[in-house]
Amino acid sequence: MRRLTASRTRSRFTARLLLVSLLVPCALSADYKSFEPTAEKPYYFEDGKVDFGTYNGFRRYHADCHVCHGPAGLGSAYAPALMDSMKSMDWMNFVDVIVRGRQGLDNKVMPSFAGNTDVLANMLDIYAYLRARADDVIGPVRPAKFPKLKK
Ligand code: HEC
Repeated sequence: MRRLTASRTRSRFTARLLLVSLLVPCALSADYKSFEPTAEKPYYFEDGKVDFGTYNGFRRYHADCHVCHGPAGLGSAYAPALMDSMKSMDWMNFVDVIVRGRQGLDNKVMPSFAGNTDVLANMLDIYAYLRARADDVIGPVRPAKFPKLKK
């Protein structure tokens, strides 16, 4: 008897929750607000906008990587198009290249960023930006963004 009541209360609660999430438009941004980037899902995209971290990655990329890798990860005569690299490169390999650098057979050099705290602190954001480019979620221009969250 008591179990029945409890489950009925619970299902009524679930129904109400469902209704609220359908009716209240800001329920959508609750997803964004609870977003935590991970190596598997580094960016959040909704309604043409990316999470603030991914937007920050766009800015950091253009501050530190653009000069060799071209605008928006498109590549240059000197360095590969990272939006293509990201189609097969995972987070651990990405970190490895950035921290240790790499020298290609043709003597083109990817410098180590181990001494650059700006880059090290923002690696996941840069990765998120390039993954979003690789997945064709955002185009080559400055992406629209959700506001920064206070954490
Ligand atoms: C001075 C030029 C230069 C800068 C600046 C630079 N890179 Fe590179 N990067 C290269 C070159 C050249 C390679 C290719 C090295 C090789 O042939 O293995 C490369 C390779 C890479 C690769 C491996 C790509 C692949 O397909 O294997 C990644 C990832 C990468 N860079 C990320 C970055 C990021 C992120 C930044 C900014 C924080 C950055 N690079 C800044 C020159 C640069």
